Amino acid sequence: MKQLRRRSTLVATGAAAALLLIPAAVAFANGSGGSDTSLRALGSKQGLRIGTAVDAARLGGDKGYTDIVAGQFSTVTAENAMKWESVEPSRGVYDWTAADQLVRFARQHGQAVRGHTLMWHNQLPSWLTTGVANGSISDAQLRDILHRHVTDEVTHFKGKVWQWDVVNEVFANSWETPQADGLNADDFWIKHLGSGIVGDVFRWAHKADPKALLMYNDYNITGEDGTNAKFQAVYDFVRNLREQGVPIDGIGEQGHLDTQYGFDAQRYQADLQAFGDLGLKVAVTEADVRTFVDNPTDQVPTDSLAQYAQPYEFSELLKGCELVKQCISFTVWGVYDGDSWIPGTFGGEGYGLLYDVNLKPKTAYSTLQQDLRLAAGAPRHTNG
Ligand code: XIL
Repeated sequence: MKQLRRRSTLVATGAAAALLLIPAAVAFANGSGGSDTSLRALGSKQGLRIGTAVDAARLGGDKGYTDIVAGQFSTVTAENAMKWESVEPSRGVYDWTAADQLVRFARQHGQAVRGHTLMWHNQLPSWLTTGVANGSISDAQLRDILHRHVTDEVTHFKGKVWQWDVVNEVFANSWETPQADGLNADDFWIKHLGSGIVGDVFRWAHKADPKALLMYNDYNITGEDGTNAKFQAVYDFVRNLREQGVPIDGIGEQGHLDTQYGFDAQRYQADLQAFGDLGLKVAVTEADVRTFVDNPTDQVPTDSLAQYAQPYEFSELLKGCELVKQCISFTVWGVYDGDSWIPGTFGGEGYGLLYDVNLKPKTAYSTLQQDLRLAAGAPRHTNG
């Protein structure tokens, strides 16, 4: 798999100090008491939902896992269960079982659902990619199939999904040559349907569920790769969509970090704020901070400094969101190191989440608790 990031510089921020200056306690939705130190309870004090990506199949059967999902998080994302290959494995035959189970679980536990994702080049059903490759699905038919997919999926979950990641990862990376509009010409969808498909998919999703928040989701869009080019491309493109009246509500910044590159937390916060100043909401949607480890089973960092860098960068990610009032949720991409996508995707790396391979909370967990506690009561959110 490609490297998500190339380089960046480490910059400390005065974020923690600034947070201490924010006054006044404001009550929020699920009304957790002061003694509840779960992430969700602490986040609720500032109207910030804290989330995780969930493997729907593990809920119920795995008690340790299930208790953490229910107790610590106020929003959940299906890690895979709402992707196209999961919901329509055979053409015209839908299977909503796993996704419905997650939505039910969320309802039972007072959690908001992030829907992920409607248009993405990965995890497409093979009947679709094969049909396109062998010419039996023309581009005109592909557009109709996508229209139907978006409409059917958003309709199925109408009223049950808080935010949709409507379009995922269509912009060129800094090591690729962008189109004039910043999109990746080699992206499956852009290649077949052109840039205009982006706005159309938002329109289709909005028609199917006018109340859901519709997000554009991507990585390296807040300077993580050491340039701000991808941020600028997304910013310009989305501003243009808004000017055309396309119903896009916000930006999902995935937040996949790696300690080997460092992290410019000021750049990140400034970019989130710039999106917010466009009138968009922002969400951190897939946070994890990976580092080199001894092996994929134990995931002990090989560099002794990583045990400090990992929670430090997690903390910077959260504080940037806390300091941008348009940031409505902070989601971690998985519950514990034992079920993270990292070891299988980035050779030699792991240790990316808040809980270790044995489901024990790590320093990153208590660091986020502390960050949330320091900021509790900040009157920043109007729309949890
Ligand atoms: C990953 C899942 O975590 C894995 O289980 C799956 O095998 C591949 O996809 N960006 C995204 C997510 O938007 O959907 C990806 O999730 C991680 C990168």
